[in-house]
Amino acid sequence: MKKEKVLVTSALPYANGPIHLGHLSGAYLPADIYVRYKRLNGDDIVYVCGSDEHGVPITISADKEGVKPKEIIDRYHEQNKEAFYKFGMSFDIYSRTSLPIHHETAKEFFLSYHKQGILNEQKSQQFFDEKANMFLPDRYVEGTCPKCGYEEARSDECEKCGSLYDPSELVNPKSKISGQTPVLKETSHWFFPLGKYQERLEDYIKEMNLKYSWKENVLQYCKGWFTDRLKDRAVTRDLDWGVKVPLDNADGKVLYVWFEAVLGYISATKELSMQQNNPELWKKYWLDENTKYIAFIGKDNVVFHTIIFPAMLMAWNDASNEKFVLPQNVPANEFLNFEGKKFSKSRGWGIDVIDFISKYPADPLRYTLAANLPEAKDTDFYWKEFQARNNSELADIFGNFVNRTFTFALKHFDGKVPERKNLKEIDNEMISLLKTYPEKVGNLLERFKIKEAVFEMMNLARAGNKYFNDSEPWKLIKSDKDSAGTAINVCLNTIFTLAEIFHPVIPMSSEKIFKMLNSKSVDWTDAGLENIKPGHSLNQPEILFTKIDDKEIENEINKLPAEISSEPVDEITYDEFKKIDLKVAKITSAEKVEKSDKLLKLQVSIGNKKRQIVAGIAKSYEPELLINKKVIIVANLKPAKLFGIESQGMILAVEDADGKLNVLEAGVKVKEGTKVQ
Ligand code: MF3
Ligand code: ZN
Repeated sequence: MKKEKVLVTSALPYANGPIHLGHLSGAYLPADIYVRYKRLNGDDIVYVCGSDEHGVPITISADKEGVKPKEIIDRYHEQNKEAFYKFGMSFDIYSRTSLPIHHETAKEFFLSYHKQGILNEQKSQQFFDEKANMFLPDRYVEGTCPKCGYEEARSDECEKCGSLYDPSELVNPKSKISGQTPVLKETSHWFFPLGKYQERLEDYIKEMNLKYSWKENVLQYCKGWFTDRLKDRAVTRDLDWGVKVPLDNADGKVLYVWFEAVLGYISATKELSMQQNNPELWKKYWLDENTKYIAFIGKDNVVFHTIIFPAMLMAWNDASNEKFVLPQNVPANEFLNFEGKKFSKSRGWGIDVIDFISKYPADPLRYTLAANLPEAKDTDFYWKEFQARNNSELADIFGNFVNRTFTFALKHFDGKVPERKNLKEIDNEMISLLKTYPEKVGNLLERFKIKEAVFEMMNLARAGNKYFNDSEPWKLIKSDKDSAGTAINVCLNTIFTLAEIFHPVIPMSSEKIFKMLNSKSVDWTDAGLENIKPGHSLNQPEILFTKIDDKEIENEINKLPAEISSEPVDEITYDEFKKIDLKVAKITSAEKVEKSDKLLKLQVSIGNKKRQIVAGIAKSYEPELLINKKVIIVANLKPAKLFGIESQGMILAVEDADGKLNVLEAGVKVKEGTKVQ
């Protein structure tokens, strides 16, 4: 394949708390796998990341602990950097946005826009805490949502019902700093006119998607933003922690954290250039239109990377000879949950990388997370799955295959690679299979289908094990030593291929295997060839994967807080529950709703009554298969119209691990119309 020049970034995590497994699955592990693969493929690649050290998240953490922001960022920058490295992240640099090089870069961009006259200054009413004598950022104000009455709503946005409103509409606002009622005071800020870039952004995304196939989830998010039309965004804040606004009369104002953080990718690359005594290096990547720029992020960061950052780069490029590349792809992941619930620091739900790594090696964790990445939808980390992936896949399949091959080679062939002689069909098949793997796995990784690639990797280990079993070298060695040698040669070369294609996912184990093979990785394309030749001496085998026993896993599970609910669920009384009329209903007919791929129109009978229900289960059921099923419905739900069709009730269903909905069914003996109790 043609060698590419590649720039890879992973979202800069806030240095206000530890990195947990969810972060890894979103923006870091997938990027590292991709980068390691590209390096083996011989591509010219640079991979940058670093701490995001400004903004309200940092000042809130500092306030909580009663320390200065600097103390927080110094602590977590070091800790997160260490956690990442122990996890095997191979950044070329892990920089930080508090460095002077970043402040200069961010100011330069702001000033370019200011000089071009792009930014408009607007006055607005902002909450001001008279006691603390400061303007209050959104997250420092809490009050009652004007739309739904939720009492812990933010100043301009309600977490509960999702509505956005003007801060002046917030009911009963309170300052989180002093607890006092803040006043609205006029302030002025600079706004970036995102709306003016909407058409160009839409074209940009359309073009990139056409050429490079963006992920469906990412396109959906963008579509949402475009439908609502992009609005001007304030790029400054009244705060004393951050990059100072480089203008006169801007005392007490800093650049909005998102506005400067995305530029942190550029400053990090500049820092790398300085470290390497090659000050122009960053230009080679950022300022070359042939650079393939891939930005890895989690879903909550999409708008900043597909809309705001590209618009900022367009605006810069319009006025400069230095033309920055825009992201060619933004393969954002959904979220990883933990044992069925959202990670929650305050509720002690989840595990931090630094703690995990102090107890278990990184590779089994990398493998488990990679095999289960939230590429298309949220997924979960389960301790039991971690144990199973480690014990039954890494140890029993991969480790066992490597171990039995080495033991055999040392015992019967004096630790030397035997020759390939009298090749039989089974040997030729295995040899040809090996040749297909680098391309097969490489193609998947190129398209960010990492989960699938990992599945294929393990399939090769499975095939290796099966080949060992089927060729029976332990029998051959007595009757036909040459053929036994052939089998061992092919097994050893399979192990080589495995060490290489598995390297991006389990780099430490891959290194160990190369050492055992007394060899080194080759160009990715050649990884399926006969890379270790007859006569080559092997080293002693080492243990690759250690099994984890049930007790250990139970121990981990027991450490989790006993009672937690992932979302703040309101309790209801029995009387309230009693109001819901749940009944058993028999489905008598089912058909697809025109122009909808989700909805089915159902007729159900509840004893002697008939009802029509429109249910969102079309992706999970062929209509015919529903007929005569006895399902549970909410019988007293207010009728509503869906796609113009009246729905007089609701069917209960649960989603399974594959995202398929399963309707709840009553047993065959239960009569329709029976009340559920
Ligand atoms: N700090 C942000 C977060 O953790 C991510 C910033 S990404 C960047 O969600 F591009 F702005 F740096
Ligand atoms: Zn609300």
